[in-house]
Amino acid sequence: MEKYSADQDQLLKTFRNACHVFVFTGAGVSRESGLPTFRDLDGEWRQYDPMTFATMEGFLQNPAMVWNMYRSRQKQIAEAQPNPAHITLARMEEHYPEFLLATQNVDDLHERAGSRRMVKIHGDVGQIRCIDCGEIYDAREFELPDEFDENTLPKCPDCSALCRPNIVWFGEYVPQEPLMAAVNAACTCDLMLIIGTSGEVSNGYGLAEYALGHGAKIVEVNPSEGALTHYAHFWVPEPAGIALPRIWEMC
Ligand code: APR
Repeated sequence: MEKYSADQDQLLKTFRNACHVFVFTGAGVSRESGLPTFRDLDGEWRQYDPMTFATMEGFLQNPAMVWNMYRSRQKQIAEAQPNPAHITLARMEEHYPEFLLATQNVDDLHERAGSRRMVKIHGDVGQIRCIDCGEIYDAREFELPDEFDENTLPKCPDCSALCRPNIVWFGEYVPQEPLMAAVNAACTCDLMLIIGTSGEVSNGYGLAEYALGHGAKIVEVNPSEGALTHYAHFWVPEPAGIALPRIWEMC
């Protein structure tokens, strides 16, 4: 398999000939919107210990501190704009008869760029979930303070229990419905795009293997090699906000 997409003509032919496209994105697709990734040198997990800020145990030990971190991410996301990568993916969706985008991201930039045929497999930072009854709410239904303390934590309107961000934390199951939609798309696509993910977590979902298993072509867009690069027929080692519009423009 070609590791570097030196053969641009073959790459463009792969896009032109595809009918059923499955796109899998990670934090890198939002990097050019000014949002940090997790594992890069300036990533989220360099600033926040994931065992404190992305586990149920960490949350229960200090819910106000964890809520304050997610509150700041909500504000960061609200101030960010979709970048050319998000916009190009929304345009691709209109072109291909069969298309699904599965994102690990909890921001809403794909939606704001116009993506509709998509699933979020790690939850949504704009949603709040009750830790007891499991009810999920839009965060905008709550008057969330700028700074949480133990007296201002969001409580469930139904059962009054503590609420948490509706995000999949380490050690937790990915919601089955969106994951099965992603698995189904991986098993039926003829082109899989892997964009802006280290594959550190998603490797366990086997999506690239499912796609390869039935002969799909795989294109990865990522400035760095990662855990999924060895599955790719083409690796475009460029930022997604530059590579995707450039490639789509030529298709
Ligand atoms: N364009 C494309 N890719 C980029 C860009 C860019 N402009 N900038 C960085 N990247 C790549 C990095 O090279 C890296 O491979 O984005 C990837 C980000 O990797 P991670 O920080 O590990 O983020 P992600 O893969 O989305 O993490 C998956 O891990 O912590 C959990 O739940 C969290 O959803 C997250 C999951």
